[in-house]
Amino acid sequence: MADLSLSTPNAIVSLILLSLISVSCAKVFFEERFDDGWENRWIKSDWKKDENMAGEWNYTSGKWNGDPNDKGIQTSEDYRFYAISAEFPKFSNKDKTLVFQFSVKHEQKLDCGGGYMKLLSGEVDQKKFGGDTPYSIMFGPDICGYSTKKVHAILNYNGNNHLLKKDVACETDQLSHVYTFILHPDATYNILIDNVEKKSGSLYSDWALLPPKTPEDWDDEEYIPDPEDKKPEGYDDITKEIPDPDAKKPEDWDEEEDGEWTAPTIPNPEYKGPWKPNACDCLKIKNPNYQGKWKAPVIDNPDFKDDPDLYVYPNLKYVGVELWQVKSGTLFDNVLICDDAEYAKKLAEETWGKNKDAEKSAFEEAEKKREEEESKDDPVDSDAEDDEDDDEDDAEGEDSDAEIKKGDTDELKEEDLKMFSEGTDIVIWEFEPLE
Ligand SMILES: *[C@@H]1O[C@H](CO)[C@@H](O)[C@H](O)[C@H]1NC(C)=O
Repeated sequence: MADLSLSTPNAIVSLILLSLISVSCAKVFFEERFDDGWENRWIKSDWKKDENMAGEWNYTSGKWNGDPNDKGIQTSEDYRFYAISAEFPKFSNKDKTLVFQFSVKHEQKLDCGGGYMKLLSGEVDQKKFGGDTPYSIMFGPDICGYSTKKVHAILNYNGNNHLLKKDVACETDQLSHVYTFILHPDATYNILIDNVEKKSGSLYSDWALLPPKTPEDWDDEEYIPDPEDKKPEGYDDITKEIPDPDAKKPEDWDEEEDGEWTAPTIPNPEYKGPWKPNACDCLKIKNPNYQGKWKAPVIDNPDFKDDPDLYVYPNLKYVGVELWQVKSGTLFDNVLICDDAEYAKKLAEETWGKNKDAEKSAFEEAEKKREEEESKDDPVDSDAEDDEDDDEDDAEGEDSDAEIKKGDTDELKEEDLKMFSEGTDIVIWEFEPLE
């Protein structure tokens, strides 16, 4: 390439070819469509096993789907912890775009539970992967009660987890959706749901990873009201209106009948409104604390030290799911970690995009059937299906030592949920027995 001269048409052609090749040359660090052999790539953690609180995964395409052969992994037991992870060759996203994408379907009507995944760095004992295991990025939907319906994007920076400061609403229906997090080398990001951008911005402003660049108490008001400006004596005696000096008592005014005559009022030309300092700008003084217009290169927040590698995770090595679920039925599929947003978009189209219409029809069909069953079983009680569920739970719940009365899910109210912190990054919920 050393003698490549730009003046020859051939060289230009080869340059164009080179750039074309690089466009189509996405680097895929990890891609999991959950085909045969997935169990060799994923390790189920022993976390919560000794307490009998570790939930089982179901390898399935779900109750409704666009392609029965396209399977994923689904949480299958209520009130359980889930932890599973896969390893990939260690990489750094320095100078690269990082794309983290997966699809998730909450087949249960999720009242409280996560649907997020994590990227982990360094060395992790996958058999012990759990809520306390440090992670680099946590991304995906989280639903709890009526108040939490959001997309999490938690970034670890120097050992601390930082939540996204912006609100991004997640999907709440019972269909598959693709969640994409893109982190660029210029420290900007995008969050997409179903290939549609929901949020974008900068790591500097949308997370509190670094102290703010501008000192927060920077005074850039050049003029302020003169503090010496005092209310003139008698100012409040000037009324808004005064009796009309030109008005005269009508000749035929009868005090007996019409009452005492008072002149109609007119606006007082002397009145200047309630007193405030510097009612006119002419009285403003130069702010003695004025620090000039703020300019980053001139004076920075002394606590702010830029980190050009703010976006860099140098040792990414694992992807995992670590969740607590009150009600199971969350199905993960098509996990992708790569350096090319276009590639991710195409993969989403080829998987979720190709199947979404058929999945929707299958869901509507299933709903119709469910409603028909309900009205057949008991035309008045619309909870028929719920009762059915309870029976099922009772039948298979014998060996569970969970403290929770089976079948109470459907009576679940927010006040029955007690928040507790289990060493996990975010809030998880404990269910209290109803008696
Ligand atoms: C797994 O999912 C399929 C499809 O929804 C369901 O028929 C089956 O009962 C599930 N198995 C378990 C063990 O939950």
